[in-house]
Amino acid sequence: MTIRHFLDLADAGPTAIQAMLDDALARKQARAGWPRGKPDADAPLAGHTLALIFEKNSTRTRVSFDMAMRQLGGTTIVMDAGSMQIGRGESIADTARVLSRYVDALMIRTDDHQKLIEMAHHATIPVINGLTDDSHPCQVMADMLTVIEKRGSLAGSKWAWLGDGNNVLHSIAEAASLMGFSVRAACPEGYEPSEAVIGTAGQRGGDVKVVRDPVEAVADADIVVTDTWISMGQDQAQEKLAALGPYQVTPDLMRGAAPSATFFHCLPAHRGEEVVDAVIDGPQSAIWDEAENRLHAQKSVLLWCFGKLG
Ligand code: CP
Ligand code: NVA
Repeated sequence: MTIRHFLDLADAGPTAIQAMLDDALARKQARAGWPRGKPDADAPLAGHTLALIFEKNSTRTRVSFDMAMRQLGGTTIVMDAGSMQIGRGESIADTARVLSRYVDALMIRTDDHQKLIEMAHHATIPVINGLTDDSHPCQVMADMLTVIEKRGSLAGSKWAWLGDGNNVLHSIAEAASLMGFSVRAACPEGYEPSEAVIGTAGQRGGDVKVVRDPVEAVADADIVVTDTWISMGQDQAQEKLAALGPYQVTPDLMRGAAPSATFFHCLPAHRGEEVVDAVIDGPQSAIWDEAENRLHAQKSVLLWCFGKLG
């Protein structure tokens, strides 16, 4: 069997993504109320080890992947790139070759997406994207799982994105084109998502449009989602903050969405910038379920990578 890397959502495709989401929901329900460190009844990854490499900070990705592997019966090795030889110049290729002799799968969070591709190219074990400057597919697996929990189905749902056209939006656009939901992304001039990503989503038949007006984007939306205006590795530029000011998610903006609309944010949030407390802490916010679902969704991503799903 070819190695199942999870570099972006299209690597898996809609059938496997649906299988992962179904499995995630079933596993979550099956272990409701259990101590979090107790393995699932079938412990399907017993005897397997996942190595996690972080070139950027992380709270959710780090802990949810570690716990995901434990709940599947496996083990983890968590490393900051700065304390590895990669941090003083050992190549990605050599690191991939060596780690492929020790562990059964790799997750990497890095800046340049090409480093992720390079790692997958040289690894002989599955490689998972734990965020790059270009995409964050594991986050959007959790987001889709949360939509299914809240609304019963994903296809046909209307998502509105407000703010910076960043890595998370890229994965949402890709997901929309694979799983049949629509996206209206409101971004200021100069901070739009990659034309290539939006173009590819369109070629797949995805209903993904970039607009200027936040009110137009949220009209009738089921999901309203935003993210930090300054992603990891970017400058805290005053002109960027000023351009994004009108895209702040406020109660007034939420009133333009569907009355049952849900608010999402991948976290960490910059309260008072991209979103105000009244929304992120308000009754429409699903951010804690969304964060929890990182754990459940990634368990199924791991099972797919290990050939145990789909
Ligand atoms: N949402 C997310 O990826 O969070 P961390 O940066 O804490 O991993
Ligand atoms: N867009 C953010 C997401 C953090 C989880 C970043 O890349 O920093």
